Amino acid sequence: MGLKLSQATRGVAPSAVREILKVAEQPDVLSFAGGLPAPELFPVEAIAAAHAAVLEREGRAALQYSTTEGYLPLREWVAADFTARGVPTQADQVLITNGSQQGLDLAARVLLDPGAVVVTENPSYLAALQVFHAARAQVVAVPSDAQGVLPEALAQVLATRDVRLLYLVPNFANPTGATLSLTRRLAVMALAQAHGVPVLEDDPYGALRYHGEPLAPLASLLPELVLSLGTFSKTLAPGLRLGWMRTPRAMRAHLVVAKQASDLHSGTLAQRATVELLRTFDYAAHVEHLRVVYGERCTVMDTTLARELPKGSRWVKPEGGLFFWVTLPEPLDALELLPLAVAQKVAYVPGAPFFVRDAAPNTLRLNFSNRAPADLREGLARLGRLLRVEVAHHAPGRASA
Ligand SMILES: Cc1ncc(COP(=O)(O)O)c(C=O)c1O
Repeated sequence: MGLKLSQATRGVAPSAVREILKVAEQPDVLSFAGGLPAPELFPVEAIAAAHAAVLEREGRAALQYSTTEGYLPLREWVAADFTARGVPTQADQVLITNGSQQGLDLAARVLLDPGAVVVTENPSYLAALQVFHAARAQVVAVPSDAQGVLPEALAQVLATRDVRLLYLVPNFANPTGATLSLTRRLAVMALAQAHGVPVLEDDPYGALRYHGEPLAPLASLLPELVLSLGTFSKTLAPGLRLGWMRTPRAMRAHLVVAKQASDLHSGTLAQRATVELLRTFDYAAHVEHLRVVYGERCTVMDTTLARELPKGSRWVKPEGGLFFWVTLPEPLDALELLPLAVAQKVAYVPGAPFFVRDAAPNTLRLNFSNRAPADLREGLARLGRLLRVEVAHHAPGRASA
């Protein structure tokens, strides 16, 4: 066909995994593939009441265009939340976005030229990698383990490449569930400061900690070089599409211009209704309830994996967030096995697509927030049966293909 696509678009191949997972959307498939919060925990009535109150009291303002930076009382709430978490913040440093995903896009627009080097963990969040590819940046992946990115490996890249941005998900990362330890936070921030490299701190899951103590936000360690992203997607509802960025002062005006060019501003009604909700509804108690329910699901997944997965499988129980990252015994290949799993009415996301390089085919990501304990047990039993058969099939001494 004669359609001339941009270079950035031509570089993006349709995802094979996405095609397989479409099948997994059938209601009888127990899917652990998505990154979805539990819809039964959305505070639907409170959100409805907040919208109704705003429309009745200030409907005309709530339906009008408004400022690019976002509704001031919402920015004040975000600033107070950062300040309470050890990052002193004024409302004028906060920009409201359409989810943290828009924050990734705006950061890339403002900080990256084609060819610019962005450092990420390996593996990393797929939709961030997509943003960096769309910006035609060069993604350089640094190895990470259960404590997050390896500072020695990062130091090597920073010493040899002209790095323009360091992208990190410090709490309960997607896909690995890993949390950057305090020692490493200090080491990584010292490196960023020494090299003058801006850090993009993507923290959609920080409020969902099930055990252990919260660790210092990266922005608290280097407030003028760290651009922090947050969101209501995991604690209220992703359909609101409301997130925020805390911007270093030098970047702020540029990010506002980028947001203006992108969409003028985030939805006025959703912003005002969220402020109404935060004033009239016990948000802290709601988040605490999410922690209890998700914490239980996390434990159920951990204990059920221990019972069901074949010997030699490895994972680390995450301290929070939504995901387990599982390494299967070799030579199992999670991408190859996905159609077989879907045939058994269970689904997951293979790990390989999350890697920038050195993809480990025997890895997979499992979400635990979106299913009640009974479904978690049943789905993981189906998966365990399949995997144990596969391991037996590959066992030494057996004739295998
Ligand atoms: C690491 C990470 N960043 C950003 C997002 C985007 O979230 P939202 O745009 O809904 O705030 C997600 C969603 O799953 C995520 O896992």
